[in-house]
Amino acid sequence: MIKPHGSDKLNPLYIQDENKRAKLAKEAEGLPSIVISSAAAANAVMLGGGYFNPLSGYMNLADAMSVSEKMQTVDGLFWPTPVLNVVKDASAIKDAKRIALRDPNVDGNPIMAIQDVVSIEKISDAQMKVMTEKVFGTTDPAHPGVNAFNTVGNIAISGPIQVLSYSYFATDFVGTYKTAYEIRDEMAKLGWEKVVAFQTRNPMHLAHEELCRMAYNTVKADGILIHMLLGKLKAGDIPADVRDAAIRKMAELYFEPNTVLVTGYGFDMLYAGPREAVLHAVFRQNCGCTHLIVGRDHAGVGDYYGPFDAQTIFDVIPNGALEIEIFKADHTAWSKKLNKVVMMRDVPDHTKDDFILLSGTKVREMLSNGQAPPKEFSRPEVAKILMEYYQSNRS
Ligand code: ADX
Repeated sequence: MIKPHGSDKLNPLYIQDENKRAKLAKEAEGLPSIVISSAAAANAVMLGGGYFNPLSGYMNLADAMSVSEKMQTVDGLFWPTPVLNVVKDASAIKDAKRIALRDPNVDGNPIMAIQDVVSIEKISDAQMKVMTEKVFGTTDPAHPGVNAFNTVGNIAISGPIQVLSYSYFATDFVGTYKTAYEIRDEMAKLGWEKVVAFQTRNPMHLAHEELCRMAYNTVKADGILIHMLLGKLKAGDIPADVRDAAIRKMAELYFEPNTVLVTGYGFDMLYAGPREAVLHAVFRQNCGCTHLIVGRDHAGVGDYYGPFDAQTIFDVIPNGALEIEIFKADHTAWSKKLNKVVMMRDVPDHTKDDFILLSGTKVREMLSNGQAPPKEFSRPEVAKILMEYYQSNRS
Protein backbone atom coordinates (compact mmCIF):
# COMPACT_ATOMS: atom_id res chain seq x y z
CA MET A 1 0.00 0.00 0.00
CA ILE A 2 1.14 3.56 -0.69
CA LYS A 3 3.16 5.12 2.14
CA PRO A 4 1.70 7.89 4.30
CA HIS A 5 2.81 11.48 3.77
CA GLY A 6 6.15 12.31 5.37
CA SER A 7 6.87 9.02 7.14
CA ASP A 8 7.10 5.31 6.48
CA LYS A 9 4.42 4.41 9.00
CA LEU A 10 1.27 6.22 10.00
CA ASN A 11 1.55 7.81 13.43
CA PRO A 12 -1.99 8.66 14.59
CA LEU A 13 -2.13 10.82 17.70
CA TYR A 14 -5.19 9.14 19.22
CA ILE A 15 -4.21 7.17 22.32
CA GLN A 16 -5.36 3.71 21.38
CA ASP A 17 -4.42 1.90 24.56
CA GLU A 18 -7.52 2.08 26.78
CA ASN A 19 -5.65 2.13 30.09
CA LYS A 20 -3.28 4.82 28.92
CA ARG A 21 -6.23 6.84 27.61
CA ALA A 22 -8.07 6.52 30.94
CA LYS A 23 -4.94 7.62 32.80
CA LEU A 24 -4.50 10.63 30.56
CA ALA A 25 -8.19 11.51 30.86
CA LYS A 26 -7.75 11.50 34.63
CA GLU A 27 -4.64 13.66 34.41
CA ALA A 28 -6.48 16.03 32.06
CA GLU A 29 -9.19 16.70 34.66
CA GLY A 30 -6.53 18.34 36.83
CA LEU A 31 -5.00 20.47 34.05
CA PRO A 32 -5.91 24.03 33.13
CA SER A 33 -8.34 23.74 30.27
CA ILE A 34 -9.71 25.73 27.40
CA VAL A 35 -12.71 25.31 25.09
CA ILE A 36 -11.21 25.32 21.61
CA SER A 37 -12.75 26.41 18.32
CA SER A 38 -14.59 23.99 16.05
CA ALA A 39 -11.75 24.29 13.54
CA ALA A 40 -9.14 23.41 16.17
CA ALA A 41 -11.30 20.50 17.34
CA ALA A 42 -11.55 19.25 13.77
CA ASN A 43 -7.77 19.52 13.50
CA ALA A 44 -7.44 17.40 16.65
CA VAL A 45 -9.77 14.77 15.21
CA MET A 46 -7.75 14.69 11.97
CA LEU A 47 -4.45 14.49 13.88
CA GLY A 48 -5.91 11.76 16.07
CA GLY A 49 -7.00 9.62 13.15
CA GLY A 50 -3.69 9.78 11.31
CA TYR A 51 -5.13 11.94 8.55
CA PHE A 52 -2.64 14.74 9.25
CA ASN A 53 0.40 12.49 9.43
CA PRO A 54 3.27 13.34 10.09
CA LEU A 55 2.25 16.43 12.09
CA SER A 56 2.58 16.02 15.85
CA GLY A 57 0.20 18.78 16.85
CA TYR A 58 -0.71 22.40 16.24
CA MET A 59 1.65 24.58 14.24
CA ASN A 60 3.37 27.64 15.59
CA LEU A 61 3.06 30.96 13.81
CA ALA A 62 6.27 30.54 11.80
CA ASP A 63 5.07 27.21 10.39
CA ALA A 64 1.56 28.52 9.77
CA MET A 65 2.97 31.47 7.84
CA SER A 66 5.42 29.26 6.00
CA VAL A 67 2.79 26.70 4.87
CA SER A 68 0.50 29.55 3.83
CA GLU A 69 3.20 31.25 1.77
CA LYS A 70 5.20 28.30 0.44
CA MET A 71 3.20 25.17 1.19
CA GLN A 72 6.00 23.89 3.39
CA THR A 73 6.86 24.12 7.05
CA VAL A 74 10.00 25.87 8.26
CA ASP A 75 11.67 22.43 8.29
CA GLY A 76 10.64 21.77 4.70
CA LEU A 77 7.70 19.39 5.15
CA PHE A 78 5.22 19.80 2.30
CA TRP A 79 1.89 20.98 3.76
CA PRO A 80 -0.81 23.15 2.17
CA THR A 81 -2.77 24.81 5.00
CA PRO A 82 -2.17 26.04 8.55
CA VAL A 83 -3.15 23.57 11.29
CA LEU A 84 -3.78 25.84 14.22
CA ASN A 85 -5.27 26.05 17.66
CA VAL A 86 -6.35 29.68 17.71
CA VAL A 87 -8.29 31.18 20.61
CA LYS A 88 -9.57 34.63 21.52
CA ASP A 89 -8.31 34.56 25.07
CA ALA A 90 -5.59 32.34 26.53
CA SER A 91 -5.64 33.81 30.04
CA ALA A 92 -7.27 30.65 31.48
CA ILE A 93 -4.13 28.67 30.77
CA LYS A 94 -1.62 31.34 31.88
CA ASP A 95 1.90 29.85 31.85
CA ALA A 96 0.78 26.22 31.89
CA LYS A 97 2.99 23.84 29.95
CA ARG A 98 0.34 21.15 29.64
CA ILE A 99 -3.33 21.87 29.06
CA ALA A 100 -6.59 20.07 28.38
CA LEU A 101 -8.54 20.93 25.24
CA ARG A 102 -12.31 20.93 25.56
CA ASP A 103 -14.66 20.01 22.76
CA PRO A 104 -16.86 22.94 21.61
CA ASN A 105 -19.22 20.65 19.68
CA VAL A 106 -20.35 18.27 22.41
CA ASP A 107 -22.63 19.18 25.32
CA GLY A 108 -20.69 19.89 28.49
CA ASN A 109 -17.46 20.51 26.56
CA PRO A 110 -15.73 17.23 27.47
CA ILE A 111 -11.96 17.01 27.21
CA MET A 112 -10.89 15.74 23.81
CA ALA A 113 -7.11 16.14 23.90
CA ILE A 114 -4.10 17.15 25.94
CA GLN A 115 -1.65 19.64 24.52
CA ASP A 116 1.93 20.36 25.52
CA VAL A 117 2.18 24.10 25.09
CA VAL A 118 5.30 25.09 23.19
CA SER A 119 4.33 28.67 22.39
CA ILE A 120 1.50 31.14 22.73
CA GLU A 121 1.79 33.77 20.01
CA LYS A 122 -0.29 36.69 18.90
CA ILE A 123 -1.11 36.69 15.21
CA SER A 124 -0.99 40.26 13.90
CA ASP A 125 -3.69 41.55 11.57
CA ALA A 126 -1.11 41.70 8.78
CA GLN A 127 -0.10 38.05 9.35
CA MET A 128 -3.73 36.96 9.44
CA LYS A 129 -4.33 38.78 6.17
CA VAL A 130 -1.37 37.08 4.49
CA MET A 131 -2.48 33.62 5.62
CA THR A 132 -6.06 34.25 4.59
CA GLU A 133 -5.11 35.60 1.19
CA LYS A 134 -2.68 32.76 0.45
CA VAL A 135 -4.89 29.92 1.66
CA PHE A 136 -8.28 31.13 0.44
CA GLY A 137 -7.19 33.35 -2.44
CA THR A 138 -9.41 36.10 -1.00
CA THR A 139 -9.95 38.02 2.21
CA ASP A 140 -13.64 38.58 1.54
CA PRO A 141 -15.50 38.07 4.84
CA ALA A 142 -18.49 36.80 2.85
CA HIS A 143 -16.44 33.70 1.96
CA PRO A 144 -17.60 31.09 4.54
CA GLY A 145 -14.09 29.66 5.07
CA VAL A 146 -12.51 33.09 5.41
CA ASN A 147 -15.21 34.07 7.85
CA ALA A 148 -14.59 30.99 10.00
CA PHE A 149 -10.78 31.44 9.82
CA ASN A 150 -10.88 35.13 10.72
CA THR A 151 -13.32 35.02 13.60
CA VAL A 152 -11.84 32.42 15.97
CA GLY A 153 -9.35 34.80 17.54
CA ASN A 154 -5.72 35.74 17.08
CA ILE A 155 -3.80 33.81 19.70
CA ALA A 156 -2.12 30.67 18.44
CA ILE A 157 -1.28 27.93 20.93
CA SER A 158 1.25 25.57 19.39
CA GLY A 159 2.55 22.20 20.45
CA PRO A 160 2.09 18.43 20.25
CA ILE A 161 -1.15 16.80 21.29
CA GLN A 162 -2.47 13.48 22.55
CA VAL A 163 -6.00 12.86 21.34
CA LEU A 164 -8.53 11.25 23.67
CA SER A 165 -11.73 11.41 21.63
CA TYR A 166 -13.03 11.62 18.10
CA SER A 167 -15.68 14.10 19.23
CA TYR A 168 -19.21 13.59 17.88
CA PHE A 169 -18.00 11.93 14.71
CA ALA A 170 -17.48 8.54 16.32
CA THR A 171 -20.88 8.60 18.06
CA ASP A 172 -23.08 10.30 15.44
CA PHE A 173 -21.74 8.49 12.38
CA VAL A 174 -21.22 4.94 13.56
CA GLY A 175 -20.06 2.79 10.65
CA THR A 176 -19.31 5.80 8.46
CA TYR A 177 -16.76 7.78 10.45
CA LYS A 178 -13.40 6.07 10.02
CA THR A 179 -9.85 6.98 10.90
CA ALA A 180 -7.08 6.79 8.32
CA TYR A 181 -5.67 3.70 10.03
CA GLU A 182 -9.06 1.97 10.00
CA ILE A 183 -9.39 2.72 6.31
CA ARG A 184 -5.93 1.31 5.66
CA ASP A 185 -6.86 -1.84 7.58
CA GLU A 186 -10.13 -2.29 5.70
CA MET A 187 -8.49 -1.81 2.34
CA ALA A 188 -5.74 -4.26 3.26
CA LYS A 189 -8.39 -6.84 4.23
CA LEU A 190 -10.08 -6.35 0.87
CA GLY A 191 -6.71 -6.80 -0.84
CA TRP A 192 -6.92 -3.35 -2.45
CA GLU A 193 -3.64 -1.88 -3.66
CA LYS A 194 -4.78 0.68 -6.18
CA VAL A 195 -7.56 2.82 -4.75
CA VAL A 196 -9.35 5.87 -6.09
CA ALA A 197 -10.62 8.32 -3.47
CA PHE A 198 -13.70 10.45 -4.06
CA GLN A 199 -14.03 13.53 -1.88
CA THR A 200 -17.55 14.78 -1.33
CA ARG A 201 -19.64 17.12 0.76
CA ASN A 202 -22.76 16.52 -1.32
CA PRO A 203 -25.07 13.64 -2.11
CA MET A 204 -23.99 11.83 -5.24
CA HIS A 205 -26.02 12.20 -8.40
CA LEU A 206 -25.46 10.21 -11.57
CA ALA A 207 -22.60 12.43 -12.80
CA HIS A 208 -20.69 11.80 -9.54
CA GLU A 209 -21.40 8.09 -9.60
CA GLU A 210 -20.15 7.85 -13.17
CA LEU A 211 -17.14 10.01 -12.35
CA CYS A 212 -16.12 7.41 -9.79
CA ARG A 213 -16.70 4.61 -12.28
CA MET A 214 -14.67 6.40 -14.97
CA ALA A 215 -11.74 6.95 -12.60
CA TYR A 216 -11.95 3.36 -11.34
CA ASN A 217 -11.90 1.95 -14.86
CA THR A 218 -9.28 4.34 -16.21
CA VAL A 219 -6.70 3.68 -13.53
CA LYS A 220 -7.78 0.01 -13.25
CA ALA A 221 -8.29 0.38 -9.52
CA ASP A 222 -9.13 -2.37 -7.04
CA GLY A 223 -11.62 -0.16 -5.26
CA ILE A 224 -13.18 3.23 -4.68
CA LEU A 225 -13.06 5.04 -1.36
CA ILE A 226 -16.05 7.35 -1.15
CA HIS A 227 -14.92 9.66 1.59
CA MET A 228 -17.37 12.28 2.73
CA LEU A 229 -16.85 15.26 4.95
CA LEU A 230 -18.84 14.87 8.19
CA GLY A 231 -18.00 18.18 9.85
CA LYS A 232 -19.46 21.64 9.65
CA LEU A 233 -20.78 23.07 6.41
CA LYS A 234 -22.25 26.34 5.31
CA ALA A 235 -26.00 26.89 5.51
CA GLY A 236 -27.81 25.25 2.62
CA ASP A 237 -25.45 22.25 2.26
CA ILE A 238 -27.08 18.86 2.87
CA PRO A 239 -26.47 17.50 6.39
CA ALA A 240 -24.09 14.57 6.66
CA ASP A 241 -26.63 11.97 7.85
CA VAL A 242 -28.93 12.55 4.85
CA ARG A 243 -26.00 12.54 2.45
CA ASP A 244 -24.67 9.36 4.04
CA ALA A 245 -28.00 7.58 3.55
CA ALA A 246 -28.25 8.73 -0.08
CA ILE A 247 -24.68 7.70 -0.89
CA ARG A 248 -25.04 4.32 0.80
CA LYS A 249 -28.17 3.60 -1.20
CA MET A 250 -26.38 4.46 -4.44
CA ALA A 251 -23.35 2.32 -3.58
CA GLU A 252 -25.53 -0.62 -2.54
CA LEU A 253 -27.69 -0.57 -5.66
CA TYR A 254 -25.32 0.50 -8.39
CA PHE A 255 -21.82 -0.79 -7.60
CA GLU A 256 -20.48 -4.33 -7.51
CA PRO A 257 -20.08 -5.65 -3.96
CA ASN A 258 -16.64 -5.07 -2.47
CA THR A 259 -15.66 -2.37 -4.93
CA VAL A 260 -16.74 0.62 -2.85
CA LEU A 261 -16.13 1.69 0.73
CA VAL A 262 -18.48 4.41 1.96
CA THR A 263 -16.73 6.31 4.72
CA GLY A 264 -16.40 9.76 6.24
CA TYR A 265 -13.89 11.96 8.04
CA GLY A 266 -14.33 14.54 10.77
CA PHE A 267 -13.34 17.92 9.47
CA ASP A 268 -15.10 21.23 8.91
CA MET A 269 -15.26 22.36 5.29
CA LEU A 270 -12.76 25.14 4.56
CA TYR A 271 -14.11 26.00 1.07
CA ALA A 272 -10.47 26.79 0.20
CA GLY A 273 -10.71 25.36 -3.34
CA PRO A 274 -7.18 24.61 -4.64
CA ARG A 275 -5.42 24.58 -1.25
CA GLU A 276 -8.09 22.35 0.20
CA ALA A 277 -7.74 20.00 -2.77
CA VAL A 278 -4.06 19.62 -1.91
CA LEU A 279 -4.95 18.97 1.72
CA HIS A 280 -7.46 16.39 0.47
CA ALA A 281 -4.68 14.70 -1.48
CA VAL A 282 -2.38 14.64 1.57
CA PHE A 283 -4.91 12.97 3.78
CA ARG A 284 -6.11 10.48 1.14
CA GLN A 285 -2.48 9.41 0.77
CA ASN A 286 -2.48 8.91 4.52
CA CYS A 287 -5.51 6.64 4.08
CA GLY A 288 -3.53 4.57 1.58
CA CYS A 289 -5.28 5.75 -1.58
CA THR A 290 -3.20 5.90 -4.76
CA HIS A 291 -5.47 8.37 -6.59
CA LEU A 292 -7.75 11.28 -5.73
CA ILE A 293 -10.48 12.45 -8.07
CA VAL A 294 -10.44 16.22 -8.53
CA GLY A 295 -13.20 17.47 -10.77
CA ARG A 296 -14.90 20.73 -11.42
CA ASP A 297 -14.80 23.41 -8.71
CA HIS A 298 -13.42 20.97 -6.15
CA ALA A 299 -13.92 22.33 -2.60
CA GLY A 300 -15.06 25.60 -4.08
CA VAL A 301 -17.77 28.04 -3.15
CA GLY A 302 -19.41 30.85 -5.10
CA ASP A 303 -17.18 32.29 -7.81
CA TYR A 304 -14.01 32.54 -5.79
CA TYR A 305 -12.09 29.96 -7.83
CA GLY A 306 -11.84 29.05 -11.48
CA PRO A 307 -13.56 25.72 -12.27
CA PHE A 308 -10.24 23.87 -12.63
CA ASP A 309 -7.93 25.83 -10.29
CA ALA A 310 -8.01 22.89 -7.89
CA GLN A 311 -6.43 20.77 -10.64
CA THR A 312 -3.77 23.19 -11.90
CA ILE A 313 -2.38 23.72 -8.40
CA PHE A 314 -1.06 20.16 -8.62
CA ASP A 315 1.07 21.19 -11.62
CA VAL A 316 3.05 23.63 -9.49
CA ILE A 317 3.66 21.64 -6.33
CA PRO A 318 7.25 20.34 -6.04
CA ASN A 319 8.04 17.07 -7.73
CA GLY A 320 7.78 14.16 -5.34
CA ALA A 321 5.98 16.21 -2.68
CA LEU A 322 3.16 13.68 -2.74
CA GLU A 323 2.96 10.10 -3.91
CA ILE A 324 -0.78 10.08 -4.52
CA GLU A 325 -1.81 10.84 -8.11
CA ILE A 326 -4.64 13.12 -9.18
CA PHE A 327 -7.37 11.92 -11.51
CA LYS A 328 -8.26 15.21 -13.16
CA ALA A 329 -11.84 15.07 -14.31
CA ASP A 330 -13.58 17.40 -16.70
CA HIS A 331 -17.18 18.49 -16.23
CA THR A 332 -19.37 15.37 -16.39
CA ALA A 333 -23.00 15.38 -17.49
CA TRP A 334 -25.63 13.31 -19.28
CA SER A 335 -25.32 13.36 -23.05
CA LYS A 336 -28.68 13.23 -24.80
CA LYS A 337 -26.86 12.21 -27.98
CA LEU A 338 -25.02 9.27 -26.48
CA ASN A 339 -27.51 8.37 -23.75
CA LYS A 340 -24.92 8.21 -21.02
CA VAL A 341 -22.84 10.34 -18.69
CA VAL A 342 -19.76 11.71 -20.42
CA MET A 343 -16.89 14.04 -19.68
CA MET A 344 -17.34 17.12 -21.78
CA ARG A 345 -13.76 17.04 -23.07
CA ASP A 346 -14.47 13.60 -24.59
CA VAL A 347 -17.34 14.89 -26.75
CA PRO A 348 -16.09 17.98 -28.60
CA ASP A 349 -18.96 17.71 -31.10
CA HIS A 350 -21.57 18.41 -28.39
CA THR A 351 -23.20 21.77 -27.75
CA LYS A 352 -24.70 22.91 -24.46
CA ASP A 353 -28.13 21.69 -25.56
CA ASP A 354 -26.84 18.15 -25.97
CA PHE A 355 -26.39 17.81 -22.19
CA ILE A 356 -28.82 17.58 -19.32
CA LEU A 357 -27.52 20.25 -16.97
CA LEU A 358 -29.47 21.33 -13.90
CA SER A 359 -28.39 24.05 -11.54
CA GLY A 360 -28.18 23.27 -7.83
CA THR A 361 -30.97 25.76 -7.20
CA LYS A 362 -33.23 24.09 -9.76
CA VAL A 363 -32.57 20.64 -8.26
CA ARG A 364 -33.28 21.88 -4.73
CA GLU A 365 -36.49 23.47 -5.97
CA MET A 366 -37.61 20.23 -7.61
CA LEU A 367 -36.79 18.14 -4.56
CA SER A 368 -38.61 20.45 -2.18
CA ASN A 369 -41.67 20.33 -4.43
CA GLY A 370 -41.60 16.55 -4.20
CA GLN A 371 -40.56 16.29 -7.80
CA ALA A 372 -37.73 13.90 -8.65
CA PRO A 373 -35.03 15.26 -10.97
CA PRO A 374 -34.90 13.40 -14.32
CA LYS A 375 -33.46 9.89 -14.25
CA GLU A 376 -30.57 11.12 -16.36
CA PHE A 377 -29.59 13.37 -13.48
CA SER A 378 -30.38 11.39 -10.37
CA ARG A 379 -31.02 7.79 -9.37
CA PRO A 380 -34.68 7.54 -8.23
CA GLU A 381 -33.72 5.91 -4.92
CA VAL A 382 -31.28 8.73 -4.20
CA ALA A 383 -33.83 11.36 -5.22
CA LYS A 384 -36.38 9.79 -2.86
CA ILE A 385 -34.10 10.18 0.16
CA LEU A 386 -33.33 13.78 -0.77
CA MET A 387 -36.98 14.60 -1.45
CA GLU A 388 -37.90 13.31 2.01
CA TYR A 389 -35.26 15.56 3.53
CA TYR A 390 -36.30 18.65 1.57
CA GLN A 391 -39.94 18.10 2.45
CA SER A 392 -39.26 17.51 6.13
CA ASN A 393 -39.05 20.51 8.43
CA ARG A 394 -35.30 19.96 8.88
CA SER A 395 -34.34 21.59 5.60
S1 ADX B 1 -16.46 19.18 -2.71
O1 ADX B 1 -16.50 20.53 -2.14
O2 ADX B 1 -16.50 18.14 -1.74
O3 ADX B 1 -15.35 19.06 -3.67
P1 ADX B 1 -18.69 18.11 -4.25
O4 ADX B 1 -19.19 17.13 -3.25
O5 ADX B 1 -19.69 18.89 -4.97
O6 ADX B 1 -17.80 19.20 -3.55
O7 ADX B 1 -17.78 17.42 -5.32
C1 ADX B 1 -17.10 16.23 -5.13
C2 ADX B 1 -16.12 15.97 -6.26
O8 ADX B 1 -16.83 15.82 -7.48
C3 ADX B 1 -15.12 17.08 -6.52
O9 ADX B 1 -13.91 16.52 -6.96
C4 ADX B 1 -15.75 17.88 -7.63
O10 ADX B 1 -14.79 18.58 -8.37
C5 ADX B 1 -16.38 16.76 -8.43
N1 ADX B 1 -17.56 17.17 -9.23
C6 ADX B 1 -18.79 17.47 -8.76
N2 ADX B 1 -19.65 17.71 -9.77
C7 ADX B 1 -18.94 17.52 -10.92
C8 ADX B 1 -19.27 17.59 -12.31
N3 ADX B 1 -20.48 17.86 -12.74
N4 ADX B 1 -18.27 17.38 -13.18
C9 ADX B 1 -17.02 17.07 -12.76
N5 ADX B 1 -16.67 16.98 -11.48
C10 ADX B 1 -17.61 17.20 -10.57
